[in-house]
Amino acid sequence: MAVSILIGIQWGDEGKGKIIDVLTRDADMVVRFQGGNNAGHTVEIGPEKFILHLIPSGILHKDTDCVIGNGVVVDPLALKKEMEDLLERKIELARLQVSSRSHLIMPWHKLLDKFKETRAEPSKKIGTTMRGIGPAYASKMARTGLRAVEILDKARFEKHFREEAEDYNATYVPLGAEKLDADKAFAEVWEACEYIRPYIQDSIVTIHKALREGKKILLEGAQGTFLDIDHGTYPFVTSSNTTSGGACPGAGIPPRAVSCVWGVIKAYTTRVGEGPFPTELKNAEGDNLRTKGGEFGATTGRPRRCGWLDIVASRHSCMINGVDFLAVTKLDVLDDLDTVKLCTAYRIDGVVTENFPADTETLNRIEPVYETLPGWKQPTTSAQSWDELPENARRYLNRAAELLQVKIGLLSVGPKRDQTFHR
Ligand code: GDP
Ligand code: IMO
Ligand code: MG
Repeated sequence: MAVSILIGIQWGDEGKGKIIDVLTRDADMVVRFQGGNNAGHTVEIGPEKFILHLIPSGILHKDTDCVIGNGVVVDPLALKKEMEDLLERKIELARLQVSSRSHLIMPWHKLLDKFKETRAEPSKKIGTTMRGIGPAYASKMARTGLRAVEILDKARFEKHFREEAEDYNATYVPLGAEKLDADKAFAEVWEACEYIRPYIQDSIVTIHKALREGKKILLEGAQGTFLDIDHGTYPFVTSSNTTSGGACPGAGIPPRAVSCVWGVIKAYTTRVGEGPFPTELKNAEGDNLRTKGGEFGATTGRPRRCGWLDIVASRHSCMINGVDFLAVTKLDVLDDLDTVKLCTAYRIDGVVTENFPADTETLNRIEPVYETLPGWKQPTTSAQSWDELPENARRYLNRAAELLQVKIGLLSVGPKRDQTFHR
């Protein structure tokens, strides 16, 4: 059985794109299964830097098939732009497919995302990427969404598009949302739909053919566990299942076919957007991590909030995802520090717990309990093996793995492909 799932075990931006690129060396196909162009997955190869939003990060390996799975929400305009940018950089796209069952992000979804975020009172703002993700998944669940398969029949697509555009104008414009010019919007969207039409395929047929042929498939998660609609810090989450369990419905793969789950974990923690973050450092230490780690959103450019590695949250995440191996990224960002900290428990109203609370209000009251370890004060960026890491870096990683009860399978000590090695 040759299906592996890779997910982020924190709040996104763990370095999934880079690790997918590395693991794609051994994969025949890479499939995205949820989210949309809210994702920003960075891959650096030599002097070149690519940021993938919708297209699987495996696309940079020229022989790998890439599928945008049925669980993804696809903005045709964003996809066309991403495809054009890649083609311009000589990345061949004939191996790309978009699932006919994927739902489409339409212009009213983006207007609605903006409307809801701007009118919400400050404590209720989610800090979304404004890409229309939540409203598009809401339409899917309300069973009014447009799917990629409809693009194959222009008259049908146009009828459905205009009905939904009209419904948006009738429902939300009276509340103060921006009016949608349906004629103009349709013309723009249709141009992009025609561009992506040749790539729309029944991905279930493609994926299951690959499975029967014994091909190796890598399922690429977007966002992270604590942005999961069920398991995240609700309501400060995204609108899909970002956890490993979401990969099966999102790609149309049976659970039995999955043999391995990779959890990508940054050596510290970051979060972008609003919501609880127990180990956040709102001080010079946090600023230092942001500067050293280049922690600015790959999609929106927003500064990421930074903090220490949270073992309580990460253990919860490893449990939910059934992580077999961790890929630890950005160890190098900690290289200069005198000491490093692991949050091993939470103190809530004076009571110490090792469980991750469900309630946002409770999460906001957490005082982290830290274990402090010595730093290593040496560069790790040129390490090529576990044994080449400074002793205190190994000590930090071993302690984290011990507390998480999960093995480290891969280590990343810089953004480039070759700054990665197996444990
Ligand atoms: P993703 O959304 O999980 O794919 O992560 P992002 O691409 O949004 O953010 C990760 C950032 O860290 C990117 O700028 C990567 O190039 C960079 N990166 C990945 N791994 C490492 C690493 O080990 N060290 C350093 N310094 N940067 C890394
Ligand atoms: P990758 O795949 C980090 C966050 C947003 C916001 C919340 C909801 O690059 O790790 P949405 O637009 O999805 O409705 O926003 O989720 N968010 C991410 N944070 N990395 C991402 O993706 C994210 N995608 C969404 O900042 O807090
Ligand atoms: Mg990202």
